[in-house]
This record gives sequence, C-alpha cells and structure tokens, in this order.
Amino acid sequence: MTTESAPVITIDGPSGAGKGTVAQRIANSFGFSLLDSGALYRLTALAVIRNGVDSQNPQAVAEAAADMAVWFESVPEQGVRTFLNGTDVSYELRQESTAGLASELASLAPLRQQLLTLQRDFRRPPGLVADGRDMGTVVFPDAELKIYLTASAECRAERRLKQLNEKGVDATLGSLLEEIRQRDERDSGRSVAPLKPAADAIVLDSTAMTIDEVCLHVTQAAEQRDIHSALNPA
Ligand code: DC
Repeated sequence: MTTESAPVITIDGPSGAGKGTVAQRIANSFGFSLLDSGALYRLTALAVIRNGVDSQNPQAVAEAAADMAVWFESVPEQGVRTFLNGTDVSYELRQESTAGLASELASLAPLRQQLLTLQRDFRRPPGLVADGRDMGTVVFPDAELKIYLTASAECRAERRLKQLNEKGVDATLGSLLEEIRQRDERDSGRSVAPLKPAADAIVLDSTAMTIDEVCLHVTQAAEQRDIHSALNPA
C-alpha cells in the first residue's frame, strides 16, 4: 500500500457533535493514524496571539502557520498533549477563546492553503481517520468513507459544558450555546471551504445516539466499503 492509496475515513461536522471522540475511537480500533485538523487552526490562533501577528492580515497569518513547530504526544491517562514551538499548549488549545479566533482565521484562504499539505501528509498506511469541517469536501475528496456527524445546537452545548467541567474549565450553558451558534454560522457561511456535507457523505445525527452507537454505524459503513482494521485484518 502506498501513502496515496492508504484508506481515509473523514468525519466532518459542526463543533460539539462528537467528531473528536468518534475519530479517536475509530482510529484506535482500526489501528489508523489520526488527524485532528481543528487543532491546526487552534494552534495557528495561539501562534498569532503569542507572536502579536495581525489577525486581519491573511498573508501574515499564513506565514505564522508556516513557522509553527507542532508536536503531538500521546501520554498514558492524559490523552494527546500538544506542543507548539516546544511549549505544552494543551490547556490553552481547548479554551473557547482559542476556538473563537481559530474559527475567524479559518475563513482566510492563504491559511487554508498553507495547512493543506500539512494535513495531507498525515495520510499513511495502514490508514487515516481525519476529523474537521472540510476533510471530505476539500482535503481528502477521494476518501473511501465520508461521515458528516451533526447534533442539535442545544445538545452540543450541553455536551461541551460537561466536557469543559470535567477538565476543570469554567463555562455556562447559555454562553456556550451562543458561541456554538456563532461558530456554526461562521463555519457554514464562509466562502472558502464552508462546513457542509460532501455530496457522497453519510449524514449521522447524534442528538439521540450514544457514542457507541455512532461508532458502530461508522464501523459497519467502513466494513461495507472494504476498509478493515489493521489490528484485526479480515
Ligand atoms: O474542531 P475544532 O472545534 O477544534 O475547530 C476549531 C475551528 O477551526 C472551527 O471553528 C473551524 C476551524 N476548522 C476549519 O475551518 N476546518 C477544519 N477542517 C477544522 C477546523
């Protein structure tokens, strides 16, 4: 299997739909690599803040992204730790303020172009699970399986509140719902690579589903497309 022929499973959708958790579980059970593309936009937001870059200047933002030294490390019991230019930024990365700026920067075409090659470099045997907003539409249009995972805004805000509280981050349901609505509007309304299901995506609404049920749907859809776990080849 070559790098270009390694199977890709894309999981796109709005924030808080459960993409991250589902992508991580599917990557683990298939023995595939994982691309959390939102982390790259969040890291750019942190780099812009830390280096005092003008967030309204598209070229300067793209250059800040090109200069980032990014490192992901899997730490037992802590999950993935993320390093930017040698500093552990895992906590700042998950702040709603970081997500807000990431969503604003994500509408800049030069930045999206800059991150394209970096994202495609994650594709390697035995396969890749990629989560984001434009994985199936722009970054991996030839993906073997495309999932569009959504849920009601209220349900996503409640899930996000639980997640943040578990991490010791303060937030209120009302402010999270407002932020989610604003982010949905920005992510779906931008002219470059807007959030939308690919024409050949399977749309799953997880409002009334457990994570286990979503993962079962994705696993069955993968098997139907002849994508098998590298840990337990058929
Ligand atoms: O998935 P996330 O919440 O970590 O993403 C943060 C922001 O980055 C999101 O609001 C929009 C942007 N993003 C994007 O435009 N394209 C992607 N593939 C992933 C994220």
